[in-house]
Amino acid sequence: MAHQATISAPVNIACIKYWGKRDTSLILPTNSSLSITLNQDDLRSTTTAQCDPIFSPGDKLWLNGKEEVVKFGGRTATCIEVLRGWRRDLEKDKGLEPLSTYPLRVASHNNFPTAAGLASSASGLAALVFSLATLYSLPQSLGQLSLVARQGSGSACRSLFGGYVAWREGTQPDGSDSIAEEIAPRDHWPEMCALICVVSDAKKGTSSTSGMQRTVETSTLLQHRLTIVPERMSSISHAIKERNFDSFAQITMTDSNSFHAVCLDTSPPIFYMNDVSRSIIAMVEELNRVSGELGYGRIAAYTFDAGPNAVIYALEKWMGLVEKSVRRWFPQEGIVEVELEQEGNKVLGKFDER
Ligand code: DP6
Repeated sequence: MAHQATISAPVNIACIKYWGKRDTSLILPTNSSLSITLNQDDLRSTTTAQCDPIFSPGDKLWLNGKEEVVKFGGRTATCIEVLRGWRRDLEKDKGLEPLSTYPLRVASHNNFPTAAGLASSASGLAALVFSLATLYSLPQSLGQLSLVARQGSGSACRSLFGGYVAWREGTQPDGSDSIAEEIAPRDHWPEMCALICVVSDAKKGTSSTSGMQRTVETSTLLQHRLTIVPERMSSISHAIKERNFDSFAQITMTDSNSFHAVCLDTSPPIFYMNDVSRSIIAMVEELNRVSGELGYGRIAAYTFDAGPNAVIYALEKWMGLVEKSVRRWFPQEGIVEVELEQEGNKVLGKFDER
């Protein structure tokens, strides 16, 4: 029977955005980033890895049931190569069965609807790396595995950990210290919830990979952003440690806006947000203005990745109000609602763009 391992990895949403590579082949970022990993039960990729000497030669990969080519020298192949090498070393050391010589079969599924328009590369690559590490019984730590996942897709290194996760940019040219680490477990601040507002499920026009490269090559504003992020990293880590939502929200929203500003400063400019995204910003700012006046401080924080969909962070006690406001100002009549509700995380259906 084939050797087999199945594991899941969740989606993570950055509060301090990764945008820019100083080394495109090792995937070394121009700045550190910080994210929150969503619950395993909500949005995740589940991957099964098998190997068997009777398989026909060559590795094969299926994503959501569709076969994908494992391009020689490509990112997936690089991850497989590193992990296979580690297994080979283990076999030599311990005289284990030569699994590293068997062809691989890897099948990965996302439990969230493609309609949610969420980037699946982070959870997908993290699941790929962790399933192979499990299949090969590798002794490497999660931190060491994050170095491999990073080479599959930068943001994937953060999905190997739960809770609040920092990806340190590192200084070593070989990337050995460009590693992810958990700065606080999820149960440190379990009241934190995320509301995912699907503004559009259309495939994004500019991929993260090509968009960030263009920003590095053409944006002068990026240089300014890079001087600010280190301070933001330490302030938001502090806010998380102190469970200070007001400060967390202020930094998260500012960094999202700073990231979209460098996209606009790119030539040609990149527009990820649309009018609905900007109206969501206005709604959250208004909610925060009122809650601030009432003495509660900020109660919600929006953040946008490389697309128009909003993620709104709020503490559980405020999430009902935030969701009600979203539903009131962004009616979704006649549109199928996608709901994945679990411990407060929710995906709202596609909004009408009007
Ligand atoms: C805006 O990790 O998808 O979501 O490393 O080229 O695969 P590659 O890029 P990717 O970029 C994610 C960008 C982002 C911000 C973030 O998640 O930090």
